[in-house]
Formats: sequence, structure tokens, C-alpha cells
Amino acid sequence: MHPGVLHRRFLSDLSTSLFSFVLPLLPTSEELTIKEEVRTLIEKLIKTIEPSARLLSFGSSCNSFGLRNSDMDLVVLIDDPEAALDPSTFVAMIGDLLERETNFDVKPLPKARIPIIKLNLAASPGLPFGIACDIGIENRLAIENTRLLLTYATIDPARVRTLVLFLKVWAKRRRINSPYRGTLSSYGITLMVLFFLVHVKQPPVLPNLQRIAPVRPITEEEMMLEGRNVYFFDDVEMLRQEWSSINFESVGELLIDFFRYFSHDFQFNTMVLSLRAGPLTKESKGWTNDIDVGGLNEMARDRNRLCIEDPFEITYNVARTVTKDGLYTIRGEFMRATRILTQRPERAVLALAELCR
Ligand code: CTP
Ligand code: MG
Repeated sequence: MHPGVLHRRFLSDLSTSLFSFVLPLLPTSEELTIKEEVRTLIEKLIKTIEPSARLLSFGSSCNSFGLRNSDMDLVVLIDDPEAALDPSTFVAMIGDLLERETNFDVKPLPKARIPIIKLNLAASPGLPFGIACDIGIENRLAIENTRLLLTYATIDPARVRTLVLFLKVWAKRRRINSPYRGTLSSYGITLMVLFFLVHVKQPPVLPNLQRIAPVRPITEEEMMLEGRNVYFFDDVEMLRQEWSSINFESVGELLIDFFRYFSHDFQFNTMVLSLRAGPLTKESKGWTNDIDVGGLNEMARDRNRLCIEDPFEITYNVARTVTKDGLYTIRGEFMRATRILTQRPERAVLALAELCR
């Protein structure tokens, strides 16, 4: 058979295989129900300390990129401006309360740079692995960036969700999803995929939501949160009607091209991935690693190896956790993946299994 035909067949098998790979890894409805019950229970308890407090989910439990047994990210928002509770005290109080009133394994960290409460729920029939849960205080930007990710997913769920979910699994299996060990957070990986779909692919698979003008004028006040511009076009109904991509590549093709782009084309040493603005230079952001500056320790020197700009907190490098070795490993993994997918493997299912070994 002609190699072109074989290749086309491989690509279409790859897309089908990606969908079937991801499907059984999605959370069960039972898991989602238990998580929501836990959130409601904890919110009710927290309201006994501060009636104006709300407990919201963010991260993968509600950005549509959640995998089975993923942790739960929760944040307490206090709506009453009169409630003068500082985060450390509040974390300590909530910690005591949860220890008294629940049988979760509770670990309050009131002295951490960002005070949080860590919770662990024991395994049960509906939750064979239990749940790990972090509760933070007043992190409103996280709610907004979760909404941004969710809106992107909603525009083209079949391609966007499948790609992100697969790449999250791949990154976990290949051990490059450990910010504490010098590699990437899931949030960082997701931003890389969205950057690729908005700014690298031509024609783009997704529009740049932060650059679509609002339909009605919005005030500065509506746009700003904690001094950051958090505007993005979030009218999903209108997006569905008005925006359709003229990029018809299959999810398999996009996956191969994603790996190829980050293996060969993206200039990790000099460039910043910005979902908001497209590729930027490290220099223009002042995110260079000036090794000559005296007194910089190893950590500070490593801070800008891989640069991913947060969509709203634009002075924040989401990938600051990535060390020199971490970046080396990550780039090695992109190359390995490109190799596996482009060496004309016999069957797509086998290629995916090999990829995530
Ligand atoms: N977040 C952030 N800045 C970071 C890391 C995370 O603001 N450097 C916030 C984002 O709102 C993100 C959420 O924390 O959506 C959760 O991050 P993470 O756990 O990395 O992503 P999840 O999508 O929850 O992935 P996982 O399923 O692996 O938990
Ligand atoms: Mg999470």
C-alpha cells in the first residue's frame, strides 16, 4: 500500500485510539457526587466560623480536564468585607474545626507562604483511592483562570479535552508532572497545549479569548481583580455561533505536531509561552537567568529555565519550578514521543501504550 495511505490510516487510528484511551480515565459520576458532597459538608462547617464564607472548587474538578482520582482544589472566599480574618488564623481555625467535626485526616499549614489546609479522605467503595484535597483562602485568581481553561475546553471539547487529558496522563506516567521535583504542574502542561492551539497552529484551532473584544463595553472595575486584568470573552453561546475554526486537523495529527513543535521548534532558552500574547522573549519580560549575579543560589538561577506566563498574573512564571535537569528531562520526553509517533508504528494503540509506558 502507498505510504501516504498507510500514514493517513495511522492518523485516523491514532485519533480513535486517543478517544478510547482517555474515556476510561475520566472520573465516574459516583466520584463527582462524593466530591460535591464533601465540598458541601465542609462549606457548611466553615460557615459556622464565618457565615459569609463560600467554598468553591477550582482546578481540574471543574475545568473539564479532570482525571479519575484527581485531587480536589478548594478555596474559601469571604464575601463580607467586615470579616477581618487573616488567612493564617482562618486556616488554623478551620483546621481545628475539621479535626473535631469530621473523620478526615486534617493537616493545617497556617505558616506556609500560602496558608492552606491539606485533607485526606479514606478510601470507600465509591472512591477506591480516597481523595486528597487542598483548601486555600481567597485565591480568586485561581477561580478566574479555571474559568478561562473551562471556556477554552468548551469551544472544541472533542479535540481540546482529549489532547489535554491525554497529555496530562502522559506527563504523569513519564514523571514530568512533579513541580516539587523540578518538572511541570498540570496547570503548566494545560497552558502549553492551549498556547499551541491558539498561537502555533495555523490556522488556529482556538481563538485568543483574551483578545476578543467584549460585546458590550465593560468597566475597568469589572475587568480588574487584585490589580490584574482578568478579562476574557466568556460568552460560550456566542462563541459557538460566531467562531468556528477552519483548522480541521484530527486530534492525532495535533498530538504529533504538538510533540514535534516542542521537540524542534520552540526556543526554550530564549522564549516565553504566553497564552495571552503569543510567543514572547525572555528578555522582554526580564525573565533571564543572569548567572553572573552574585549571591543567586541554585534555585534562583533555575527559576526561568522554562517560561510559561500566567494568563492573568503576567509577572508570574507558572513553570518556575522547572530546574535545569527537569527541563532536560521534559525535552527528552518530547523527543521520545515524537520518535515513537513518527517512526511509522504498526498500530496506533500500541504507539500510545508505548508512549505512556
Ligand atoms: N494554579 C495556579 N498556579 C500554579 C499552579 C496552579 O494558579 N502555578 C491553580 C490553577 O487555577 C489551576 C489549579 O491551581 O487550575 C490547579 O492546578 P493543578 O493541580 O496544577 O492542575 P489541575 O488541573 O487541578 O490538575 P490535576 O488533575 O493534576 O490536579
Ligand atoms: Mg489539581
